Amino acid sequence: MTRPDTETKRAAEVSAMFDEVSPRYDLINDVLTVGSDRLWRIAATKAIGPRKGMRILDLAAGTGTSSAALAAHGAEVVAADFSEGMLAEGRKRHAGNPLIEFVWADATDLPFEDDSFDAVTISYGLRNVNDPKKALAEMYRVVKPGGRVVVAEFSTPPSSLIRAPYGVYSRHVLPRIAGAINKNAAEAYRYLNESIEAWPAQEELAAWLRDAGFERVAYRNLTFGVVALHRGFVPREAPKPVAAAPAAKPKTASKPKAASAKPKAATTKPKSTAAKPKAATAKPAAAKPKTTKPDAAAKPAAPKAKPAPTKPSDGEKK
Ligand SMILES: C[S@@+](CC[C@H](N)C(=O)[O-])C[C@H]1O[C@@H](n2cnc3c(N)ncnc32)[C@H](O)[C@@H]1O
Repeated sequence: MTRPDTETKRAAEVSAMFDEVSPRYDLINDVLTVGSDRLWRIAATKAIGPRKGMRILDLAAGTGTSSAALAAHGAEVVAADFSEGMLAEGRKRHAGNPLIEFVWADATDLPFEDDSFDAVTISYGLRNVNDPKKALAEMYRVVKPGGRVVVAEFSTPPSSLIRAPYGVYSRHVLPRIAGAINKNAAEAYRYLNESIEAWPAQEELAAWLRDAGFERVAYRNLTFGVVALHRGFVPREAPKPVAAAPAAKPKTASKPKAASAKPKAATTKPKSTAAKPKAATAKPAAAKPKTTKPDAAAKPAAPKAKPAPTKPSDGEKK
């Protein structure tokens, strides 16, 4: 397996790596985190506050493990990822779950209309995206005013007493264990370590969220800061003006690799960023119709009602 370059994180290399590890991805996670990943997912689920009637985007959803936790609370979940291998594994595992829909999507160019989700979450995915700030701008765009974002990501333990042994574990032990479970995975977990070391610490990621336009940004360290849970809210606003009818041709979600299923030419509502205060990283306001991949295309447009934001979860910093 080729290890993606941490500097460039080329989409084709990253998705190919996840395609290869997909069959044993969840098992390796459980082993390497000694089951802590389950506790981290519980904390992330609590921070999102899923409930019946909510429509949630689980971005970089992988095999849909976090999506299933959200759907267990009655929320409708769109599990989006750009690795066909991870999506195939997820579809197989959650085949009987009508609340989860797996959709091919690139986090930096989402095939969803503006304000179409009550919340968006990304677990251990943002670090792998080649342009994470663009992904945050896209997340901001697709969440309704008052809705929230929750980012679960490996982070920097504030204490050197934890940082030093954790560094040794992730640099030397983790790739060996992963390689013993799946020989393709050793390189992937070397990349994991490199990408974590290059990833911004808690405060900087919080600043990225603010720069993307989210307000009331806060984070909470899990397991001494090995993982951090960031959250923010899309500001509430006055009702939006009705968007103009799309004039341009529908855009087809582009995909680097050949897919088994062809994208449908169904068009969703045009993107309109006019009414929502946008950060500098956000795309310019444009009535830009989007075309989703097959599963997403079948979905009816989300209701435009704006949910009242719920309170941030207890124990969060800042
Ligand atoms: C470490 S896995 C996390 C999967 C899942 N969220 C979880 O918690 O188990 C990272 C995922 O991010 C996806 N990913 C990376 N870059 C992406 C991008 N630009 N667009 C969509 N998915 C992406 C990968 O395909 C992979 O499935």
